Amino acid sequence: MRGSRIVGMGHCVPDRVVTNDDLAEFIETSNEWIVQRTGIEERRWVEGNVGAADLAFDATKDALAEAGMKASDLDMIIFATLSPDVTFPGSSCILQKMLGVPGIATLDIRNQCTGFVYGLSIADQFIKTGMMNNVLVVGGEVHSSGLDMSTRGRDVTVLFGDGAGVAIVSATDGENRIIDSKLHADGTHYDVLMVEAPASRLNPRLTPEMLEEGRHYPKMDGRQVFRNAVTAMPAVVHEVLEPHGFTVEDISMLIPHQANLRINQMVQRSLGLSDDQVFNNIMKYGNTTAASIPIALHEAIQAGKVHEGDVVVLTAFGAGLTWGANLIRW
Ligand code: COA
Repeated sequence: MRGSRIVGMGHCVPDRVVTNDDLAEFIETSNEWIVQRTGIEERRWVEGNVGAADLAFDATKDALAEAGMKASDLDMIIFATLSPDVTFPGSSCILQKMLGVPGIATLDIRNQCTGFVYGLSIADQFIKTGMMNNVLVVGGEVHSSGLDMSTRGRDVTVLFGDGAGVAIVSATDGENRIIDSKLHADGTHYDVLMVEAPASRLNPRLTPEMLEEGRHYPKMDGRQVFRNAVTAMPAVVHEVLEPHGFTVEDISMLIPHQANLRINQMVQRSLGLSDDQVFNNIMKYGNTTAASIPIALHEAIQAGKVHEGDVVVLTAFGAGLTWGANLIRW
């Protein structure tokens, strides 16, 4: 039966390293507070005018090389981002222009930290139906140009980093494939993590007063996000495994979304996984939302931690609220 598998990956993070001590120079915070609460030691932030598609373009070049493909082999670009290059059109169109492949389908999706998990599932469905053969799935974010760089925003600003990760998903008849995905959302809590303005429901969409009040910066109820994340991710991992006769013991590698090392340690404990079954790199990059899973997965592969035939599970949780998981026979 026709299915899909990842045939090439790439990732790109900006060169500029921003340590916790760097942040403490303009925000009332400390390396100790950030490391204790989140595990984050540093993140990468762009310099100058760099958008999500710019980072994704570099990552895509590497993925195409790894897959032995040309951009013209792609049928579709799915771009998961909460920080699009411009309000519209989507970053998928901007990346398509950079890749020089006019005419192929493009789709931007807005599923925040769960964006890559949703994107991979969408690519898998398009390929299973036979409508597409080669789909580029992107998670790409530039947060640093949209963060409150004052102490007012410190609970959010210290968490986020910039980066992009991409996967080329291609048709296969083999057993090594994306086996299944489970996708969820609960919009009841849409406002626990959000950027409120500019917004079409506000008229005007943005005023000097809103800017003054910082309503264009992300706001978060961190504790509620934390509580939901540590229950939703283990649950969705079981949900994606069990219909296929797998248990957590079969997991060769779990790649959880990189929002907070403490969240991932609790998820690991709750699932009863050993250290070598879970990969984390949040220490170096902070939370890159939609980009975090493809960056981590690609780094795990490069570190020799993922082998052909392995059972790999990706799981994410984020604003929306949204959560989900992909089950892959690598
Ligand atoms: N540096 C120093 N102090 C900070 C701070 C910072 N960067 N950010 C907040 N604080 C202060 C708060 O003002 C508060 O001070 P107070 O007690 O005097 O009011 C204190 O630290 C505790 O704040 P609180 O928000 O209760 O901390 P916490 O233990 O819940 O940790 C998070 C905050 C953000 C680290 C944590 O809630 C979290 O990681 N949540 C999940 C967030 C997440 O993953 N978001 C992305 C989802 S995909």
